[in-house]
Amino acid sequence: MAKFKRQLFVCENSRPPGHPRGCCADRGGVEIRQLLKDGLQMRGLKGYVRASSAGCLDQCARGVTVVVYPDDVWYGNVKPDDVAEILDRHVLKGEVVQRLVIPDHQLTGRERPFTPDEMAEGEG
Ligand code: FES
Repeated sequence: MAKFKRQLFVCENSRPPGHPRGCCADRGGVEIRQLLKDGLQMRGLKGYVRASSAGCLDQCARGVTVVVYPDDVWYGNVKPDDVAEILDRHVLKGEVVQRLVIPDHQLTGRERPFTPDEMAEGEG
C-alpha cells in the first residue's frame, strides 16, 4: 500500500437552520465532495488522491472550504463549477487556483508554528 499523493478535505459541517455562522453543508459541501470524488475517479486518480469529509475547518464566513494537503492550500467559497478546475489544474498539474485561495492573513489558525521546544514550554 502507498500513501495518498494528495488529500482534499472538504468541510461538510452542518448547523441548525438560522445559526449565525451558517455552515458548509448548506452551501453545497456535500455535493462538492461528491463531485471531487467522481472527478478523481473519472481521471483515474482513485487510490492516489482522496477527497475526504471534514468537519468545520473554522473558515465558515468563506463558504465551502476545501484544504489540499500536503500542499497546505486553503480554498474558500468553492462552488460546484470550480471542481473541474481544482482537479485539472491543482491535482493533476500542481497549479494552485489562485482565485479561490483564502489569503493567509484571513485564515483563522495561529500564525506561529509550534516547535517541540515551544510545546514543552507550554506544558505544566
Ligand atoms: S462550517 Fe465549513 S468551515 Fe465552518
